[in-house]
Amino acid sequence: MVSEQDIAQAAQVVRSGGLVGMPTETVYGLACDATHGTAVARVFEAKARPSFDPLIVHVLDRDMARGLTDAPWPAEALRLAEAFWPGPLTLVLPRKAGAVADLATSGLDTVALRAPAHPVARALIASAGVPLAAPSANRFGSISPTRAEHVRQELGDAVSLVLDGGACVHGLESTVVGFDAAGHPAVLRLGALTTESLAGVLGELPEVRSSGSRPASPGMLDRHYAPRTPMRLFEAWDDAADVARIISEEPDRSVGLLAPGLADDSAGRSADRSAGFVASHRLRQGSDLRASAAGLFAAMRALDAADLTDLMAVAVEDAGLGRAINDRLRRASLPVA
Ligand code: TXA
Ligand code: MG
Repeated sequence: MVSEQDIAQAAQVVRSGGLVGMPTETVYGLACDATHGTAVARVFEAKARPSFDPLIVHVLDRDMARGLTDAPWPAEALRLAEAFWPGPLTLVLPRKAGAVADLATSGLDTVALRAPAHPVARALIASAGVPLAAPSANRFGSISPTRAEHVRQELGDAVSLVLDGGACVHGLESTVVGFDAAGHPAVLRLGALTTESLAGVLGELPEVRSSGSRPASPGMLDRHYAPRTPMRLFEAWDDAADVARIISEEPDRSVGLLAPGLADDSAGRSADRSAGFVASHRLRQGSDLRASAAGLFAAMRALDAADLTDLMAVAVEDAGLGRAINDRLRRASLPVA
């Protein structure tokens, strides 16, 4: 657990331009002083991240956010912040020149802002007294960390200090919402806050602007959040099993599975074994999608560490959080030939 002393030490690291592994309710971030150009450069270096990809700037609340943006905000931005901050929502707004380092926004005239709910993240922002630029604390393109030890595995010595706030409750990144010139919102990245929840405030489902290699939000690059073991995505367990049966006949091939089901589904597990999957992880469906989302990246990491030659994923029902889960599974998988 994190003590006040840990926070004070981390705040000191941040103020002197260093990097801190920071727990949030979504995923762990690699945090630095957003106003400190050299510190931001260190984040890109540690992540091996292309410099065209801007970072999310973390603030305590709307007041702190307002100081980094050019007023006035679109009316829908205000309503969303009021409803969902602190929480897993990132708003892309016109930035105030000079308020954060240019590198943090990759030279764009907008800034991505989020007020996290995690008490450790909030304590660190308050103690450092500056907005914190923090991308997910993984190497570029790799799986986002949902535990402190994942941050160490991903970044090693590149991060001076990791605050251990335990497992992240959401386990998926924040939902990113941007606005057009008329103030009309669009989802730039699906995430922990569902489009249904956004619709509850906006009065209608927002447009979801998806993917491509020149994305509106670079987290939308086609292959991202990916394990090193090649993974393929299937619509149904039967389809995955058909392919697994064939592949597992080959010498030196071993196949793992990530699929919806019951966590302690012994019938499912024995079906997995007889289809040739040597390891399987089941994501709970229905009302348990929150638990599935929270465990998704850790499951991918565990399967990736199991020394298999092939991974297969099966999509979950495409509604609510299932949409963001499927989005991450799709981006973690090889393109369909
Ligand atoms: O949950 C989260 O959002 C986590 C935690 C640590 O807060 N952070 C995170 O950051 O996922 P990162 O850097 O891995 O993803 C930031 C996303 C990227 O898709 C990036 O392209 C987008 O936000 N983004 C940042 N600034 C933007 C901007 N000005 N316009 C459009 N998209 C932007
Ligand atoms: Mg990321």
